[in-house]
Amino acid sequence: MEQTFIMIKPDGVQRGLVGEIIGRFEKKGFTLRGLKFITVDSAFAEKHYADLSAKPFFCGLVEYIVSGPVVAMVWEGKNVVTTGRKLIGATNPAESAPGTIRGDFAIDISRNVVHGSDSAENGRKEITLWFPEGVAEWQSSLHSWIYE
Ligand code: CMP
Repeated sequence: MEQTFIMIKPDGVQRGLVGEIIGRFEKKGFTLRGLKFITVDSAFAEKHYADLSAKPFFCGLVEYIVSGPVVAMVWEGKNVVTTGRKLIGATNPAESAPGTIRGDFAIDISRNVVHGSDSAENGRKEITLWFPEGVAEWQSSLHSWIYE
C-alpha cells in the first residue's frame, strides 16, 4: 500500500493545528503508520530539502523548519501521495482552494503549515530519512476489516 511523508511545520504546531490536520487525514480514511514530535537541526532540514538548495529561499526555509518542533508522520492508503497533496492544497496558499489545509489556514508561501511528499519515490526517501527505525505495523485483521 502506498505511503507518504507528511510534516506539520513549526507554524502549524504553534498555531494549534495539529489535531485539525491529523483529523483531516484520518477522516479521509488514511492510516497513520508513524508519528513523531521532533525539533530538527539545520543539517537535517538541509537534507530534507536538499532538492531546493539552489533556491533563493533555501536558507529562510531551513531557518523556519528548525525554529520549533514539527510533527513528522507517515500516512498510508490508496493514492495517498496525490490525494494527500489535494487535502493539503497548492504550495502557495494564495492559490490553495478553500477546503484544503493551506486554503483554510495559511496566507504566505513561506509559512504554509504543512509539507507532503510530491511523489511516491520522494515519499520513500523522506520516510527513510525521518523514520530510519521503520514504522508501526497495524494489527492486520483490524486493518483489513476497516479498509479492505
Ligand atoms: P513544501 O511543500 O514543504 O515544499 C518546499 C517548501 O519550500 C514549500 O513547501 C514552501 O514552504 C517553500 N517555498 C516554496 N516556494 C517558496 C518561495 N517562493 N518562497 C519561500 N518559500 C517557498
